[in-house]
Amino acid sequence: MPVLLLALKVEMLDMTEATVITVDGPSGAGKGTVCAILADTLKWHLLDSGALYRITGLASERKGIDLDDEAGVADVAANLDVRFKPGNEGVTVLLEGDDVTTTIRTEEVGSLASQVAALPAVRAALLQRQRDFRQAPGLVADGRDMGTVVFTDAPVKIFLTASAEERGRRRYEQLRQKGFDASLPALIEDIRTRDERDSNRSVAPLRPASDAKVIDSTTLSIDEVRDEILSIIRNAGLI
Ligand code: C5P
Repeated sequence: MPVLLLALKVEMLDMTEATVITVDGPSGAGKGTVCAILADTLKWHLLDSGALYRITGLASERKGIDLDDEAGVADVAANLDVRFKPGNEGVTVLLEGDDVTTTIRTEEVGSLASQVAALPAVRAALLQRQRDFRQAPGLVADGRDMGTVVFTDAPVKIFLTASAEERGRRRYEQLRQKGFDASLPALIEDIRTRDERDSNRSVAPLRPASDAKVIDSTTLSIDEVRDEILSIIRNAGLI
């Protein structure tokens, strides 16, 4: 093949992005579980974007950066020394070498995450880091704005939701299994407040992309949600 054509071919290969499917929705809809299952089934990469906001919140707190200091927190986000290490027990998250896998899942860090997630400069700082997860053979991207901001060209976009009552009930069961005491009405109220805040924030509000398929998981099992998404991916010719 002439050198010029070869160069063009290489260039075109470089421009072809790995495929990606986005799964957005409120917390408690089952996104995390179903995305992990999908990535495992398809042998694709997994982006847990919420973890990046959680890690940014935790790293900022550890560095003593005030969460109102938008430039300071954005600087932390841009320079995160984080590694995701897949293993048999799931993914281990290392922040500056320190295992923070369990710490980032606490309610306290969840609250830090939602505060830093409301800062536009932080979202901008994390944008490229999230896009870098898009590698062959494919990516399952879990978050709030995967289809509307980060991967707008994704061929399959899912918006997974469930009623506030059902999400509250799932959270209640989770907490009780871990031995924590919880009030179901208070959890449901908390979820409603968070939905309101996430849907009405000025930057990257939580909403389905115009081309997203909305799945209501209120009366569905995880297996049913997985099968529905797999059939959407199959119908799109991605597998
Ligand atoms: O999904 P998870 O609960 O881990 O997300 C933690 C927080 O990060 C959420 O409260 C949400 O406000 C924020 N987030 C976001 N955009 C994403 C993922 C998470 O704003 N793509």
